[in-house]
Amino acid sequence: MHPTAELHVHIEGTLEVDLLVRLAQRNGLPLPSFDPDVLRQRYRFGKLQDFLDVYGQNVAVLRTEQDFYDLAASYLARVRAAGVRRSEIFFDPPTHLARGIRMETILAGLTAALDESRADGLSADLIMCFQRDLGADAAMGLLDMALPFRDQFIGVGLDSSEVGYPPSLFTRVYARAAAEGLRRVAHAGEEGGPEYVWEAIDLLGVERVDHGNRALEDADLVRRLRDDQIPLTVCPLSNLALRTAPPELRDHPLPVMIEEGLNVSIHSDDPAYFGGYIDDNFAAVTRELGLSSAQTATLARNALTSSFASPQEIAGWV
Ligand code: ADE
Ligand code: ZN
Repeated sequence: MHPTAELHVHIEGTLEVDLLVRLAQRNGLPLPSFDPDVLRQRYRFGKLQDFLDVYGQNVAVLRTEQDFYDLAASYLARVRAAGVRRSEIFFDPPTHLARGIRMETILAGLTAALDESRADGLSADLIMCFQRDLGADAAMGLLDMALPFRDQFIGVGLDSSEVGYPPSLFTRVYARAAAEGLRRVAHAGEEGGPEYVWEAIDLLGVERVDHGNRALEDADLVRRLRDDQIPLTVCPLSNLALRTAPPELRDHPLPVMIEEGLNVSIHSDDPAYFGGYIDDNFAAVTRELGLSSAQTATLARNALTSSFASPQEIAGWV
């Protein structure tokens, strides 16, 4: 894999079955089974919500600072070995706060792993996600309670069930985040239509769109994304697993996105659930879509230049 950045990964989605079992045992918590193979059989999804249901149950094993540290340290070690230079990692506080876990605990564990990673040469930062199906008031409440920890994350994102929860609901929350100097991204156009991508750009002022696949259905939107070179963080194996792309990877819209001159890059989303990390995603698209080395180099470089690292840091990578 060419040197690249991972800009679309949910730390909770890196919870491998082996770690899931170990944390459940360490914390004395139940699981539907303690057999990794049986647990993995649940990883067959018909749509985004099927995945979110399992993901939401599994995160219950994360309770202590050490648990969050172990989760992030495992992920970072895995992608460092793959040659990733920079990682911007989503975390989902609502699901943990609702279980009585404190923001201090979550952030202390994640931040300790990120600090070690930086010292080892893999640059990393956190992006806090609002859970869109909880609504705008919950998002504003989360932003309020997170601002005292503002130095421990660089931006905000928007994830979870998309359809029925358009970006427009979160306009005020994103305006406030922008006023606080936070970077802004949002999932849009994964299951939701092109209008969700328009709203993310025009109403939330996002600097990147997470997924964005359905933007291709709207020629005016494609033109806008191309003209402004708004990055789309595409996750091919996620799209296959959640059926947000055709069932065969060889029919994935990535080549069309490249052909249209869009600023696309490749990421893993939830690698423990969707069959692979960022390097596995690169290997799969290279194999199945017949991309040239120049094309994969461009995808890898797009991620580095679309990252929120400092210009000096980026200059050292590209
Ligand atoms: N949370 C974790 N992965 C997600 C995805 N692919 N879409 C929406 N929310 C998510
Ligand atoms: Zn995602």
